[in-house]
Amino acid sequence: MNKRVRKAVFPVAGLGTRLLPATKAIPKEMLTVVDKPVIDYVVEEAREAGIEHFIFVTGRNKGVIEDHFDVQFELYDTLAQRGKDDVLADLQRRQPLPGQTSFTRQQAPLGLGHAVWCAREIVGDEPFALLLPDMIMQGDKPCMVEMVKLFERTGGNIIGVQECDPAETHKYGIVGQGAAAGNGFAIDRMVEKPKQGTAPSNLYINGRYILQPQIFDLLADQERGAGNEIQLTDAMLKLKANQPFYGYHFRGETYDCGSPEGFVEANLAFALAHKGLAAKLRPTLQKLLEDTDQADTPRRKAAG
Ligand code: UTP
Repeated sequence: MNKRVRKAVFPVAGLGTRLLPATKAIPKEMLTVVDKPVIDYVVEEAREAGIEHFIFVTGRNKGVIEDHFDVQFELYDTLAQRGKDDVLADLQRRQPLPGQTSFTRQQAPLGLGHAVWCAREIVGDEPFALLLPDMIMQGDKPCMVEMVKLFERTGGNIIGVQECDPAETHKYGIVGQGAAAGNGFAIDRMVEKPKQGTAPSNLYINGRYILQPQIFDLLADQERGAGNEIQLTDAMLKLKANQPFYGYHFRGETYDCGSPEGFVEANLAFALAHKGLAAKLRPTLQKLLEDTDQADTPRRKAAG
């Protein structure tokens, strides 16, 4: 029988250089998408998937993430005194229980593979979920929930994938689709950033994984790959020689909050999906679009 997926790893040690200067003193995972920090979206997804232990691999300037998931006695007390019971209840509902979180430091940002390896002692000898906090998702069925369902049928390793523009496959990790399995499929090929025209499909790896603990033995080699970083994909490719990999095709939207455009898109998409905000925001957005269209018109004419 497959072991249950009880633990999730969140690598939050990246430098976030694409979002500087916003990330000079604040980790990118703590930037706000509409009404909560980016990290909350992924932790909620993991919780919905039945995860009981949340492991954060942190780095420079990331202490605030630990504070965010801790009890804030003074704040809670003040909210109670001021009768802000709803706000307090919401904070308490989000609060992990004592012992449900672990924090370990990646002492130098040597790459995603290295960050994952830093969690080896806390994960131990069991399969674990890995969620890249930059990637936040919108869809009917949370990606990790469906991945856990697939894992319960197939075991092995599971990777979340979704479609990208076929002209952009060279920017991503791409998988080839084999036979159907449960609510997913067997992965027959896995290629990191394939040369244009050589990709086995347009299904890219979207930042959600369920991995077997043997990945840690492979990451322990500390072999440097692309960008002179220790790459997770290199270790997964080695693991694939001995263990099955399955894909779950996520049908919703994924926003890469580590890039300026993805971060803004996420804010717009989640605001438009927010009951309290959508109605107010819609006319403002429409007006802004009309205004910019009008402002663009003379230039377009001139260009034409
Ligand atoms: P990214 O490459 O998107 O993050 O890594 P980054 O390095 O912060 O990005 P830029 O290019 O400087 O803007 C993907 C994920 O892996 C984590 C990041 O925090 C992010 O969640 N990561 C990356 C680490 O934890 N450690 C690393 O050494 C590298």
